[in-house]
Amino acid sequence: MAEAAHDKRINSNLLVDAFFDSLMIRYSYIDNVEPCMDYELFGKVYKTPILGAALGLHTRFHESGSLGYARGIASGGSVNFNGWIEDEELEAICAEGIPSARGVKPFADHDRIYQCIEHDEKCGAIAVCMDLDHIFDVDGRYVDAPYGKCGRQTLPDLRGYASSTSLPFILKGILTAKDAEKAVEAGAAAIIVSNHNNRFPSMIPPLAALPEIKKAVAGQIPVLVDGGIESGVEAFKAFACGADGVMVCRTLMMAFSKGGPQAVTEKLIRMTDELRGIMANTGASCVSEIRTDQVVRRDF
Ligand SMILES: Cc1cc2nc3c(=O)[nH]c(=O)nc-3n(C[C@H](O)[C@H](O)[C@H](O)COP(=O)(O)O)c2cc1C
Repeated sequence: MAEAAHDKRINSNLLVDAFFDSLMIRYSYIDNVEPCMDYELFGKVYKTPILGAALGLHTRFHESGSLGYARGIASGGSVNFNGWIEDEELEAICAEGIPSARGVKPFADHDRIYQCIEHDEKCGAIAVCMDLDHIFDVDGRYVDAPYGKCGRQTLPDLRGYASSTSLPFILKGILTAKDAEKAVEAGAAAIIVSNHNNRFPSMIPPLAALPEIKKAVAGQIPVLVDGGIESGVEAFKAFACGADGVMVCRTLMMAFSKGGPQAVTEKLIRMTDELRGIMANTGASCVSEIRTDQVVRRDF
């Protein structure tokens, strides 16, 4: 018998797993139709609502590097949101017409941030992203990485970046209504609710933070989410908790390390099929039709 996708979680984290496991899906069948998996983001339509989350250091996982990974994502019909990659890497990816963006680090040198944004716009990226949870390290000091030192980012700073470009400016690492409101005020085109793979102690699971954030954003911009999504099951639960789009990092990264670009494509297709399966059997004809009452939290 084929192994059910949801039988085994690989990238285990106690709080994130417990939250996913507490959600039960309500199935219903009458009047349902085969779902359409097309997904629109920033005016472009993709074949799947499961997006490639920010990943860096690609050559650690497969020799084909960031370009190979991007090709794998593109063949799966999705969007490739890189983490920090060098200018030349993004240029090579965009030169192939692969819908891609990169995460510009919250550098202490703000001029460098502006240069990155200008570069990404010129080279044809679809957006530019910044991971706010990478300003500080776990020891409370500013991140000092080989690619550069990070530093404080104020609301006017963020507003400056967003207004300097025609690209959608995305803020990643949002976990509170307060930061979500500031992101909207800064002119962000979307936010990513994420705990960056549990970067800090006892972090709230992203799905648990979603309701207050959705309320704060009030439909003004898309609210994307990542963290522990390994199959269509978690993707469905994320949509049911209010996500407007879901992103996957380590699950695709692990596929990449085992089988290169093709394995990334296959994993994306499989996850999309799993999501379609649940949508068909719960009565959602597209992801925007997945409703909060289609999951219920277990109290036993
Ligand atoms: C190897 C690796 C590199 C990452 N690099 C970045 C990065 O440069 N920028 C960023 O915003 N997030 C980065 N992330 C975090 C992911 O985008 C994502 O937020 C996190 O892994 C949770 O999603 P997941 O559970 O699907 O892995 C990285 C994650 C991994 C595993």
